[in-house]
Amino acid sequence: MTTFRLNGREVTVHAPDDSPLLWAIREELGLTGTKFGCGIGQCGACTVHVGGQAVRSCITPAAAIAGQEVTTIEGLDPHGAHPLQTAWIEAQAPQCGYCQSGQIMQAAALLKATPHPTDADIDAAMNGNLCRCMAYIRIRRAIKLAAGHGAHA
Ligand code: FES
Ligand code: FES
Repeated sequence: MTTFRLNGREVTVHAPDDSPLLWAIREELGLTGTKFGCGIGQCGACTVHVGGQAVRSCITPAAAIAGQEVTTIEGLDPHGAHPLQTAWIEAQAPQCGYCQSGQIMQAAALLKATPHPTDADIDAAMNGNLCRCMAYIRIRRAIKLAAGHGAHA
């Protein structure tokens, strides 16, 4: 049993301690915006924030985040209108969409730490977030749009 804060509210999950945070979020808590891709920390589809840092929830044991603040795509903005989310729409970044919540969560952590990233900053931060639809150019454009719209605020 593990208690933590999820998108601003306290939750308790009953999954075994070594069960991945991803499954606690999706299966037990019913938030399916966070996706399962590889299950081994290599694709970024499962990215959430723990204490404001981007982490791979598929390789993070639920027990490891006891007492911490977890944010998923559903909690990034109460109205789904975070500057990254509006920029994503403006840039028409998604194709199939499967990787996109992980991409946005990774980008949100980037912009929090580096409000005006260079191309090299974006490459370094987003390198581990794979997109099988190859939407990388539009994703980069969306990140730059969001940086211009104050996504770091
Ligand atoms: S599903 Fe977690 S990194 Fe791929
Ligand atoms: S938009 Fe299809 S996997 Fe990225």
